[in-house]
Amino acid sequence: MVPVTAGHLRRDQDLTGPELRHLLDLTHDVKANPARYSDSLRGRQLALLFEKPSLRTRLTFEVAISHLGGGSVATIGPIGEREPVKDVARNLARWVDCIVARTFEQQTVDDLAHWSGVPVINALSDLYHPCQIFADAAALEARLGRLAGLKLAFIGDGNNIAHSLMITLSRLGVNFAIANPPGYDPKPDIVTEARRHAAAHGATVALTHEAEEAVRGADAVYTDVWASMGQEHEAYQRNVHFEPYRVDEALMNKAKKNAVFMHCLPAKRGQETTDGVMESRNSIVFDQAEYRLHAQKALLLMLLRGKD
Ligand code: CP
Ligand code: NVA
Repeated sequence: MVPVTAGHLRRDQDLTGPELRHLLDLTHDVKANPARYSDSLRGRQLALLFEKPSLRTRLTFEVAISHLGGGSVATIGPIGEREPVKDVARNLARWVDCIVARTFEQQTVDDLAHWSGVPVINALSDLYHPCQIFADAAALEARLGRLAGLKLAFIGDGNNIAHSLMITLSRLGVNFAIANPPGYDPKPDIVTEARRHAAAHGATVALTHEAEEAVRGADAVYTDVWASMGQEHEAYQRNVHFEPYRVDEALMNKAKKNAVFMHCLPAKRGQETTDGVMESRNSIVFDQAEYRLHAQKALLLMLLRGKD
């Protein structure tokens, strides 16, 4: 088992290139041979700390640790109000082996990791959603048989999903293009970093405001909600700005023939995509959801068994 050198998964970049490749290989192995790992994390306990709602992330971590022989406890609600994050971190670290945290701010994940002394996993922050994208990469690789040289187009907000996609896919040699409305750009420092990774792996990171330009030649088209959790108050304005960025049948037809459709879920049919695209035979959205389980098992094994 290859350990995670950083000791935490605060953001996608906490895995080195070889660790990322090992994670994908292990993801495919835990899917194919679940019984091989059924006792691997016996007695290990996770704390699940969620400041925002979740279906997939919370459930897949609970099922993952249970399949690996351990258990989980859930803590739902904002932290840092009743007592400082650094105190929460040092309490949890006395009781559990790993903290899985979905927070509003990336800083909260970083603070938990700084103070906890046990591995911390980012289960979505304002900047990144690495667990989602590791699962997506594995699901895409399983479906198309390879990653390097593919093109993935992301249509929508320059948000946490877009950031993690560009950082992780660029390190796997996948060409990435994003089309977003003006004013909803991904963070420039994250784009610069992704472009550096892409250059080292013979790939590109392209930014445009034209959805048709982004999907041209794409093997996969990915979208996400127009207003992320915590941005609901901006929904009216965002619905206007994002209207030309819906991934519908006409846009999918501009991508490569048989391009796959991807979405992290939850989806709002009629907004960022259509029911027809979601339900089409090229939609792999539920494969992505399934791979959350396999990829997070691999991640837990690398973080908690890697140094055994
Ligand atoms: N995709 C994802 O993270 O789903 P949840 O918000 O339901 O966890
Ligand atoms: N961008 C979305 C992803 C949900 C999984 C959000 O942050 O709400």
